[in-house]
Amino acid sequence: MSKSDETAALIRTRAGDAPVRLGLVLGSGLGHLADAVDGVAIPYGDLPGFPHAGVSGHNPNLVVGNLEGVRVAVFGGRAHYYERGNAAAMRLPLEVLRGLGAEGVILTNAAGSLRPDMPTGSIMCLSDHINFSGLNPLIGEATDARFVPMTDAHDAAYRAALVAAAAQAGVTMAQGVYAWYSGPSFETPAEIRALKILGADAVGMSTVPEVILARFLGLRVAAISTITNMAAGMSAEKISHEHTKAMAPIGAAKLERVLRQFLRDLA
Ligand code: HPA
Repeated sequence: MSKSDETAALIRTRAGDAPVRLGLVLGSGLGHLADAVDGVAIPYGDLPGFPHAGVSGHNPNLVVGNLEGVRVAVFGGRAHYYERGNAAAMRLPLEVLRGLGAEGVILTNAAGSLRPDMPTGSIMCLSDHINFSGLNPLIGEATDARFVPMTDAHDAAYRAALVAAAAQAGVTMAQGVYAWYSGPSFETPAEIRALKILGADAVGMSTVPEVILARFLGLRVAAISTITNMAAGMSAEKISHEHTKAMAPIGAAKLERVLRQFLRDLA
């Protein structure tokens, strides 16, 4: 048995055999959404190969259960490239998700905005992304499956359903391009000006490697950013991780309404 099969089997013994339909990965300051699930919480520390999430503002539990009539697996925290220099840090959790039967995953994150019309507290559905880090979680993968097409990586049907859910829930949700910057230092104002020219609408330190891994694994994927600050040089606001955690709940409340409606529509 592979390591991910073993971990999936362990999760089934604790949370039950019913297949999971969808995964949700929660970003900085968004971890409390896991508490909304009616199910079984398993600490990452009990799950071999799961990240020992070391970023404050994350909730390192996997919660498997029901949310709005859909069986979900909610990842209360993620591992980032910048923690250990491993771009594939989320590979095993996503393999486990697929092993639990999921058809897809919705990724969430905290991000800085490059668009004046998308202020702190906004949410943005990713229409596409720019891998500004140049890193790739599939480096070292030896099979031809590593040549993953990314033309339609952000699933069109999920995105349309999320947009419809936002409208139904009365939440304004922007759509735009997310650029992955490795972190953990924030960007310079010159880097943000460069990213603007390149076509980015938001910037953050996660998600893109997970989109690549999800597509590699055959999972459908969509992602939503909560805007916690204007990007470097765009406002007088001080950028810090403390600020990210303090601001995330504003967008998180909107995100929760959109995700609940999306799940109700899926059910
Ligand atoms: N840059 C990168 N990552 C972030 C930001 C930012 O401005 N805000 C929240 N996560």
